[in-house]
Order: sequence, then C-alpha cells, then structure tokens
Amino acid sequence: MSRVVVTGRVPETALEKLRAEHDVDDWSGPESIGREELLRRVAGADAVVSLLTERIDAELLDAAGPQLKVVANVAVGYDNIDVPACTARGIVATNTPGVLTEATADIAFGLILSATRRLGEGERLIRSGQAWKWGMFFLLGSSLQGKTLGIVGMGGIGQATARRAKAFGMEIVYQSRSEIDPRVAAELGARRLELDELLATSDIVSLHCPYGPATHHLIGAGQFAAMKDSAYLINTARGPIVDEAALVAALRDGQIAGAGLDVFEKEPSVHPGLLELDNVVLVPHLGSATVETRTAMAMLAADNALAVLSGERPPAPIA
Ligand code: GLV
Repeated sequence: MSRVVVTGRVPETALEKLRAEHDVDDWSGPESIGREELLRRVAGADAVVSLLTERIDAELLDAAGPQLKVVANVAVGYDNIDVPACTARGIVATNTPGVLTEATADIAFGLILSATRRLGEGERLIRSGQAWKWGMFFLLGSSLQGKTLGIVGMGGIGQATARRAKAFGMEIVYQSRSEIDPRVAAELGARRLELDELLATSDIVSLHCPYGPATHHLIGAGQFAAMKDSAYLINTARGPIVDEAALVAALRDGQIAGAGLDVFEKEPSVHPGLLELDNVVLVPHLGSATVETRTAMAMLAADNALAVLSGERPPAPIA
C-alpha cells in the first residue's frame, strides 16, 4: 500500500478508487489547504493528487521525500507544477487532457454570446430595479453570423470552440505552434495565420493556448492596438496570458468593444478596473465546472496516479 495525498476536495468516486488500493490522506476542509499544512502532509507521500490552486514546486517535492513517484494534477493546465523539478527527481507529472474539452469550449462560447449580446448588462439592469422596456435601439449587441473567430492555440479546446463557431455561421482563423490535422482544418474551413494577422482580422479573439514564459502577456497594449475597435477578447485559458492593466485601458478607451473572462491574472483577485466596466463579462474560472467533467477529471487523475504506483505508463503523462 502506498501513501496518496490529495490536496483538496475531489469527487468521492475518485477517492474510492484510490482508497481501494492505497492509504489516502485527502484534504476535505472548506478552505484550500494552506501551504504549511500541505508541506506537512506530503511528507512520505508516494503520490500527490493536486488541484491547480496548489503550487507543486521543488520545495514541496523535497518536503515529500525521495519515495514520491507521481504528481497527478486534476487539470489540463499545469502551470502550477514545476515539471522540470519533477523530471529532475524522476517524478512523473500527469494532467487531465480531453475530458474537459467540451465543457471549456461551452464556457468560451457562453462568454462569446454573453459579451456580444450584452447578457451581463441586461441581467444587472433588471436586478438593479431600473425601469426598462423593449426599444429598437435598446442594448444592441453584435451578431456572430458571418463574423470571424480568431483562435489562439488550436489544440483540443480551440478546435471544440471552432466547431461551435462554425455551427453559428462564423469564419475561423487560428494561430498555433503546430499545424493541425488537415482534415480538421478542412472540415472547419479554418485558415492558419500569424498572431498579428489574426488580431487584425478577427471580430472575436479567443485564447486557448497553455500559459508559460512564451505566452506571458502574449496579449498586451500592442495587441489591443492591432485589434479592430469592434472586436472582443475571450479568455478561458490562463489569466496571465493577458496583460490585465492593458486590457482595462483597451476596454475603457474603446480600443476593443468588449471582453469575456473566465480566468484572471492574479486569481482570485480581479483587476479593480475591470469591475467598473460594463463591456466585460466576468466569471470565476468555471471552464470545467460541471459535475460530469469534474468527476471525469478526478477519475483520470486517479488513474494516472494508480498507473504510476503500479509501475505502468499513466494514461496522461505531461511529457
Ligand atoms: C482548468 O483551468 C484546467 O486547466 O483544467
């Protein structure tokens, strides 16, 4: 029996699967586990099942000890894990790709509709108790049909968002480190562009790339200047891909028309400038937040941990 530390609350089915084979120490407090408590609990762990709110760095790996074999993140993004530090210690790091693709694309498309059709503004207006009535020019938004969606990062979630956009009659352009399957590109009628061309062409820019040094502040003042003043920015990837202060300025100065954000630069803090603006829709990192998706993510993380503990290749190794 190995010792498995789970750093936060996860669906019971995943815990049961782990408990059937191992000694599981799971944090079930209402708040996130604090750093000190986490460092204390990981001591002697053979596996750590981590949530994206916990930083898994060299200090933590050393606090765990040399028997640690696997860090199984319950997320597709793994910017909370120092992967080179894991590799240097022979620890396998895993994530949960695939199972959250559709849920995250749904939220991206929800933000596209909310921002372009001003749903947040309408909701706030009604709840404020202000008088309103139907009017020819009341809360007019922008249509999607015939518009161009620019996807930055054309992996699984980018492609799933593109499929939704195609069903809405949109044109698709994308920027991606690597060429995508030509059959998928043909089916979507998607054209690959450089980022600056994509920004200048798109009516909506949706971010789906991973976060890392190469994508830190990928979208900042220069990129907002390159976008159409009628364009919208959607971010369901990671907050620091966007320079939030520059986004506030672009939204305030009418450099772009609006934005929809599920992630924030200094999560869970939100730039105070964003809170004052009506042309941005703000939701609290809900990309994968469905019962079905979170269960599938936790089960995949459990499978990853169990595979490594039994000396097998995990279903979703990071590298
Ligand atoms: C959520 O943000 C994830 O990376 O899974």
